[in-house]
Amino acid sequence: MSAVDALQGRRVLVSAGPTFEDIDPVRFIGNRSSGKMGFAVAQAAARRGARVVLVAGPVSLPTPEGVTRIDVRSAAQMHEAVLAQLPADVYVGAAAVADFAPAQAASNKIKKTAGQDTLSLTLVRTRDILADIAMHAQRPRLVVGFAAETDHVEAYARGKLENKRLDLIAANRVGVEGGGFESDDNTLAVYGADGSAQVLGPAPKTVLADALLDLIAARLPG
Ligand code: C5P
Repeated sequence: MSAVDALQGRRVLVSAGPTFEDIDPVRFIGNRSSGKMGFAVAQAAARRGARVVLVAGPVSLPTPEGVTRIDVRSAAQMHEAVLAQLPADVYVGAAAVADFAPAQAASNKIKKTAGQDTLSLTLVRTRDILADIAMHAQRPRLVVGFAAETDHVEAYARGKLENKRLDLIAANRVGVEGGGFESDDNTLAVYGADGSAQVLGPAPKTVLADALLDLIAARLPG
């Protein structure tokens, strides 16, 4: 960290946690994201003097001090809430947003019937918050994505970096011990649109958050 942090006074928008896509009033499609990484980024950015808005999916984490939090549930709600917060200097998309959601949530609980062996749900693509932010007229100076992958981590991450027109992407391997969604620790491989590549960690997510913010701060104009 330099004497005057480039994040000082910057507007930093962070998304974190999973999204829940309702099937009916009692069931939903969710994922294993704990929100820890995004909350750690929000907390670290606020400590470094940024003005931080955190759009959070359904998680059980306390709001970091000095952070403005907006709670949402679904990918559609997160999309609306995040875009409503523009303009911002930095967007960090740490949320694990559902790629597909039920076309329509049933208004009553879906009942199984005698002899029924299968149930089909029609899922439709959700809108990509990160890609929409990166192509927005009010695009933040830095747009940072996350990529949780089980395999081909670098190739998939670099593909997303390019397709979604990001500045940085932080990739991590999920489904391994000592890292990933529910863990307090992680290892991030951060790839830049400028061709850069850095491995951060293994380290606690709080430490990784500051290391990631160092990479972001170094790319913000003075
Ligand atoms: O394509 P994939 O979902 O793996 O990309 C992950 C990145 O994209 C994360 O930064 C996530 O927050 C973002 N994303 C999004 N909106 C979606 C799906 C993913 O912002 N609908």
